[in-house]
Amino acid sequence: MRRYLYPWSKSGIKVFDSDVLVLGSGIAGLYTAIKASEHFQVTVLTKKTIEESNTGHAQGGIAVALNEEDSPTLHFEDTLRAGAGLCDPLVVRILVEEGPTCVEELMNMGAQFDRQDGALALTREAAHSQRRILHALGDATGWEIERALVAKVKENPKVTALEGRFVVDLLENYTGEIVGALVLNEETGEFEGHLANAVVLATGGLGQVYRFTTNPSVATGDGMAIAIRAGAYLMDMEFVQFHPTALFIPNAPCFLISESVRGEGAHLINSAGLRFMENVPGKELAPRDIVARAIWEEMNQGPVYLDFRPIGLERILERFPTIYQTCLNYGMNVCTTPLPIAPAAHYMMGGIATNSFGETSLPRLYAAGECACNGVHGANRLASNSLLDGLVFGARIVEKILQKNYVKRPSWEGVLCPEGGLGRTGINGLGKQVDARGLRTRIQDLMWNSVGILRDEAGLEKAKELLKAWERNELSIRCVDDLETANLLTVGEVIAKAAFDRQESRGGHFRSDYPLRLDERWQKHSLQSKEGYHVHYVPVSGAD
Ligand code: SIN
Repeated sequence: MRRYLYPWSKSGIKVFDSDVLVLGSGIAGLYTAIKASEHFQVTVLTKKTIEESNTGHAQGGIAVALNEEDSPTLHFEDTLRAGAGLCDPLVVRILVEEGPTCVEELMNMGAQFDRQDGALALTREAAHSQRRILHALGDATGWEIERALVAKVKENPKVTALEGRFVVDLLENYTGEIVGALVLNEETGEFEGHLANAVVLATGGLGQVYRFTTNPSVATGDGMAIAIRAGAYLMDMEFVQFHPTALFIPNAPCFLISESVRGEGAHLINSAGLRFMENVPGKELAPRDIVARAIWEEMNQGPVYLDFRPIGLERILERFPTIYQTCLNYGMNVCTTPLPIAPAAHYMMGGIATNSFGETSLPRLYAAGECACNGVHGANRLASNSLLDGLVFGARIVEKILQKNYVKRPSWEGVLCPEGGLGRTGINGLGKQVDARGLRTRIQDLMWNSVGILRDEAGLEKAKELLKAWERNELSIRCVDDLETANLLTVGEVIAKAAFDRQESRGGHFRSDYPLRLDERWQKHSLQSKEGYHVHYVPVSGAD
């Protein structure tokens, strides 16, 4: 695979520097930036506007053990159970034990969660044994968190946040340390070099690699793709979470219908009006992968609906105002009529391999949030653990950077650049939509049909071959869209390869030709590098 997406060279490029460079502006990126600014000068880069990230679209909430009947131990046990044998217990302990402090800090930063009689209101979601999900504005939790963090960043003189900056590739020095990023300024079309003592990838997920996804258009797997190009390992990439319930009506977006709707009592029904989850342990609140597959199979017989009516009119309007209004905009009144739904790609459990301090396999490169994988989610993330993950492991990155005590800022002279770089300081044709051959759509369709909810050897083989051929023969970089498409091809191929090699079913990865979970052979993490995305395996660590 190529090391750099574009044949740049160093001359003529504007160079910026800071102590810590954070790439991405969701919860992990902004929280890390704010924490880091207590000690360092920080730059945050984001490819669209600072508010646009997966975080802003999160509905259900943030899981944290605050209830008197609850405890970090119960949260730990639920997380491990959902993770289907691939959670690293020591990392999960950190999540559940450090989570409450981070959430308190988030509230001190201005995030306001819903309250009932003065106390924080907690809801339930699938596979949680307790009510432990904090929410805001009913069902707009992510929006509220993003609002609070963006406000904090904007008033902070030690954080410079730059929008419209697309990170093309990571920069390294002659000793192999990551010292910054090559960035395309989308307004000018010029490259910029951003140098820093430490680089934090917090670029979020990759839902856009699939035809149907709850993720916004920015979720194109950029961080994972640039990390593997630079030589970092990706871990557990076969484990994609498909959310059971996204809005499914013609010409409407694949809008998330929060799991907390089922947590509050909504039923899944088939076209005959029957509750097809009634005899499954956990019913509608069984783990996500089980519910998603059950819906998928039921859809062979006809449409599937989410019936909000058991929740009651008043409670629907109080708890789910955004969902209610969005569905109404598409002609569906959830208070009176069951809502057509279908599963959609939602979350990547895998990502850039890190330890519990967010350190990747490359010196000075850190990763947090959905683009990272430290073993906390295993093969299937417990609902609402992702926002907590972004906080806890973002904060730990700052601890590690402090410990490292990097003293000298990297120099531009010391940066390696591609041999035979064309001396280009930008990309022509910027901003033009040139996906004339529909390459991105073909990637999304192929991934959905062959590397989706149900997988098998023939489909995965075909996907691997086609993605490789498209990368070789059809990809040319002429604009930002093409850079994203290149990243989608990379992460798509990595997922397909990992899914092909894992001959069992576990969590989000289901092989119809290997339908059983086989712990003896497969209870291990996959790791992939840029060398042909070859998969090797490492044990689940820290087992209690
Ligand atoms: C939801 O509200 O169902 C999404 C929450 C999550 O993915 O954790």
